[in-house]
Amino acid sequence: MVKSGVEIKAPEGKLGVLLVGLGAVSTTFVAGVEAVRKKKALPIGSLTQMGTIRLGKRTEKRIPKIKDFVPLAELDDLVFGAWDIFPDSAYEAALKAGVLEKNLVEELREHLESLKPMPAVFSQEYVKKLNGPHIKQGKNKMELAEKLMEDIARFKSENNCNRLVMIWAASTESYLEPSEIHQSIESFEKGLHENDPRIAPSMIYAYAAIKSGVPFANGAPNLTVDIPALTYLAERNRVPICGKDFKTGQTLMKTIIAPGLKARMLGLEGWYSTNILGNRDGEVLDDPESFKTKEESKLSVLETILQPELYPELYGNFYHVVRINYYPPRGDNKEGWDNIDIFGWLGYKMQIKIDFLCRDSILAAPLVLDLALFLDLAQRAGMKGVQEWLSFYFKSPQTAPGLYPEHDLFIQLKKLKNTLRYLRGEELITHLGLEYYDD
Ligand SMILES: NC(=O)c1ccc[n+]([C@@H]2O[C@H](COP(=O)([O-])OP(=O)(O)OC[C@H]3O[C@@H](n4cnc5c(N)ncnc54)[C@H](O)[C@@H]3O)[C@@H](O)[C@H]2O)c1
Repeated sequence: MVKSGVEIKAPEGKLGVLLVGLGAVSTTFVAGVEAVRKKKALPIGSLTQMGTIRLGKRTEKRIPKIKDFVPLAELDDLVFGAWDIFPDSAYEAALKAGVLEKNLVEELREHLESLKPMPAVFSQEYVKKLNGPHIKQGKNKMELAEKLMEDIARFKSENNCNRLVMIWAASTESYLEPSEIHQSIESFEKGLHENDPRIAPSMIYAYAAIKSGVPFANGAPNLTVDIPALTYLAERNRVPICGKDFKTGQTLMKTIIAPGLKARMLGLEGWYSTNILGNRDGEVLDDPESFKTKEESKLSVLETILQPELYPELYGNFYHVVRINYYPPRGDNKEGWDNIDIFGWLGYKMQIKIDFLCRDSILAAPLVLDLALFLDLAQRAGMKGVQEWLSFYFKSPQTAPGLYPEHDLFIQLKKLKNTLRYLRGEELITHLGLEYYDD
């Protein structure tokens, strides 16, 4: 039976997408959207643009495109803004990032040149390997947050936007443990006034976004919005948030393969993952403090998928290593090797080797698009706080306190699609299917 669904405001007018960091991922995203709008390319990898959703019984054959099923903003209605510690336009930044072919960047030059970043909130304490000239000054972190809020309001009115979303696609910050300052809105705001060193720049952006009513997604593994102070603030201000760390490359493969091994009750002795990567992200991750943040995010995946506490004979003792090595000749074209030692019937050993010649930002760009469109949908549907249904896009999905994250890509996809069905009042799909065999 079809229920009424949730009231969703129509996506009228322009949607501004504010990107923190105008590097490889952001420029590949912005250039890609423009190439798609100009019909030069297809939005491959984007669920919102290419994906379908089954509704009702298989016999009904109702399988619309997701974008025709839920009211998403149109690509033509997107406008882009950004902050970066370098003043390069998206054109210059795209050429430096070296992800897209020069010909394509030249064809899109006018559009890319018009995107110039606003001065950033930055602290080298949090990204040791970078230093740039295009930075805001303020007497304390609260003043910096206020300057970001002014940027947000100015961008919105100058570009005649109806709504905004913000996505962190800036460098990975140093590892930070949550502490008492991050526990409540009051202690966090006191910390902003007192310039507390435990408040990272990414948290200042997230605070400014939430205070401005702008949904926020965190594409890097930094804590950022994954602290009680900011999740409470998002709840209170009715703003949707999600994170952390775009699920691309090696971790994407891990979350595809590990559920398969577990489904067949095959054991795991060890999983060794190593990457070579030569872009700026690789350079930043060459610093042990930034790498530690990334490592935490990458390591947690297998434990949660394989549930060693439930299957001690199969997964109670596996060895998991993740390495990232900065190797400039490869640029953005990362190579990730996985050696997986598994065991089967009677304990006989087998090995799987994966050599993934991937393109990091090509995998990440469609995720930025989907997150922008889905976060905007969530806000128009009155959803607030952590959006766990978007965990499909993340290596370390944010969840409600005390809940372990679901890492299995296929469960994440079911959750996402069922959320869309729920929003539209369609029956959730359980895959039970016994009704097809009833007399
Ligand atoms: N590409 C992927 O597949 C992928 C996957 C998961 C996560 N990520 C994360 O996404 C982020 C972006 O990746 P990338 O390859 O575009 O990196 P990049 O180095 O090309 O771009 C990051 C940009 O952020 C800027 N920046 C740094 N600190 C800033 C600040 N405080 N404010 C504004 N700008 C700031 C840098 O100057 C740089 O231009 C990284 O944190 C990366 O770890 C990327």
